[in-house]
Amino acid sequence: MSAPNGKGSTLELTGIFKAYRRGKERFPVLNDVSLKVQAGEFVSLIGPSGSGKSTLFRLIGGVELPDQGKIRIDGSEVTGQSGLISYMPQQAALFPWLTVADNISFALIAAGTEKKAAKEQAVQWLERIGMKSVSKEYPHVLSGGMQQRVSFLRALLMKRNVMCLDEPFAALDALTRSDMQRWLLELWEADMRSVLFVTHSIEEALVLSDRIYVLSSAPATVLRELVVPFERPRRSNVWTDPAFVEMKQEILDLLEAGKAERTRM
Ligand SMILES: Nc1ncnc2c1ncn2[C@@H]1O[C@H](COP(=O)(O)OP(=O)(O)OP(=O)(O)O)[C@@H](O)[C@H]1O
Ligand SMILES: [Mg+2]
Repeated sequence: MSAPNGKGSTLELTGIFKAYRRGKERFPVLNDVSLKVQAGEFVSLIGPSGSGKSTLFRLIGGVELPDQGKIRIDGSEVTGQSGLISYMPQQAALFPWLTVADNISFALIAAGTEKKAAKEQAVQWLERIGMKSVSKEYPHVLSGGMQQRVSFLRALLMKRNVMCLDEPFAALDALTRSDMQRWLLELWEADMRSVLFVTHSIEEALVLSDRIYVLSSAPATVLRELVVPFERPRRSNVWTDPAFVEMKQEILDLLEAGKAERTRM
């Protein structure tokens, strides 16, 4: 299911329920979540902390199983199957026993690149994210934001048709963050893989996405699905558009209403 023609795949989740056990209590996290990412589409998920976004990603990645519901890629059921998507977990999960460069070449080799070429390309890719100087270091000596960038690069290079990125830029300073956003958009526009992207930044979601799902607090349901209307390639100052400001407010209101609901409970 790699991307020979450079096109994304359709990812479809239907009726996903998931609960965890805490002692004797059952704690529902996802409550009938259904969503779709069309081939080549960029879709973001926004929802309060603890609403179940990372849980949803672990289900899509096949690391855990839903209690109910189905996950399909291009129409085939893949619930519980791992290795089909490029997945960047919220906590950078680099191999501590490999150098930064070897972490990257690992992804390239997994995507079919020959070993020697992978080693060369790894250093070139690290140069593109401004991290060539640490290519021979081990991950534990990097800052959190640096680890996040390497982890992001590794997910990109996995070359699956569907990419799930869980707050990939949360630990970055504002300038590096906007550089990485621009870079992600360039790469996405070039090969149009399908992206499902989690962020707490409404602006980031509006700048990057074709559509946004707003989730409620746990147990998460889809509160609203919004189509982001700004044409591509997006202007760098798209945030000055009145429609942008309006949509930002709409999402804020939804999240606020959810919060008010929670404090009443
Ligand atoms: N393995 C687990 N066992 C028990 N509870 C869990 C487990 N994993 C997650 N949870 C709980 O499920 C809920 C949702 O967690 P999750 O990490 O999916 O939230 P999130 O939306 O990604 O939050 P954030 O925005 O803070 O990253 C939380 O209350 C969390 O404590
Ligand atoms: Mg999370």
